[in-house]
Amino acid sequence: MRTFNFSAGPAGLPLPVLESAQAELLDWQGLGTSVMEISHRDPRVIAVFESAEQRIRDLLAVPDDYAVIFLQGGASALFDLIPQNLMASSIHVLNTGAWSEKAIKGAQRHAQVTTTGAAPYVDVAPLAPVSGVDYLHYCHNETIHGVRVGDIGSHDVPVVCDASSSIFSEAIDWAKHDLVYAGAQKNLGPSGVCLVIAKRDRLHSDAPVAPVFNFANQAANGSMVNTPPVFAVYLIEKVLGWIADNGGVAAMDRAAQARSGALYAAIDASDFYSNPVAEAARSRMNVPFLLANDQLNADFVRDSEAEGLMFLKGHRSVGGMRASLYNALPDGATDALIQFMQHFEATRA
Ligand SMILES: Cc1ncc(COP(=O)(O)O)c(C=O)c1O
Repeated sequence: MRTFNFSAGPAGLPLPVLESAQAELLDWQGLGTSVMEISHRDPRVIAVFESAEQRIRDLLAVPDDYAVIFLQGGASALFDLIPQNLMASSIHVLNTGAWSEKAIKGAQRHAQVTTTGAAPYVDVAPLAPVSGVDYLHYCHNETIHGVRVGDIGSHDVPVVCDASSSIFSEAIDWAKHDLVYAGAQKNLGPSGVCLVIAKRDRLHSDAPVAPVFNFANQAANGSMVNTPPVFAVYLIEKVLGWIADNGGVAAMDRAAQARSGALYAAIDASDFYSNPVAEAARSRMNVPFLLANDQLNADFVRDSEAEGLMFLKGHRSVGGMRASLYNALPDGATDALIQFMQHFEATRA
């Protein structure tokens, strides 16, 4: 039986994607072997990468002057690799939570860093138009604090966005972004790969990084400078097909707003549950919430798991619970959670 998976990441994958991969595991394309067991230079594997790229371009309306690349190292590696690849010496970071803090630390290893915003992360600090630095960095959706930046605004410098926990849940305004990146393991696929979409003329083939982490080099080589994470990209290609079959990014956006809206409404209607984030800054993907009585946290986790509502324990730095509502969350999961929460409150509060 599949349970309802509220994990913050790695997160649940769409069931049809898992079933398709399962069906092909022993014999992919009549080759009598899985896609994991053959060369990445095989034209059929290259076709998977090309299809994944094309689906990304179609789903997110990526302009032609942006490169789409897959990299290893996770989004955490990009906290260092982006300053290096953009050859930045000065960076401004909008700080909206724990992942912004990590981006600041990475940026500080390579450049002078200025910031806007600080803890407690319950709102997005007002950001004046940024100028005079090499770029502005922000995190579109803070996975731990549940804070979303609705509109980054217009700035006189290139804008870099960490969209690890929200990519493919809403459209991206390319007029306002020069580089968008995301680890795969929330809305895109399994861990082990991340996606970088970057304006080509911002990239430097002579950036002082290892060739496998040079964005221009990877873009010129179809993300195959060395052996790439083939199985992860193969699954991503299927997830992207599932998104397209289910109405594209606009439909994912509507579903995310409906799911998170229902959960926030239930939290706000209760004196037992609370979420501290300002309404306009609330994440549509990750909903942290506290119980009025901390002593009941362990019971909540145990009882919810008994109902098939999995991985609701909050991040240790925030406490309480966190429900992650990524694209692949099946219909009915949010309603089941809300019903459980109301029952728990009625019987245990
Ligand atoms: C917003 C955000 N950025 C970056 C990361 C780091 O990703 P990784 O573990 O792939 O390095 C995460 C991981 O959860 C995240 O949520």
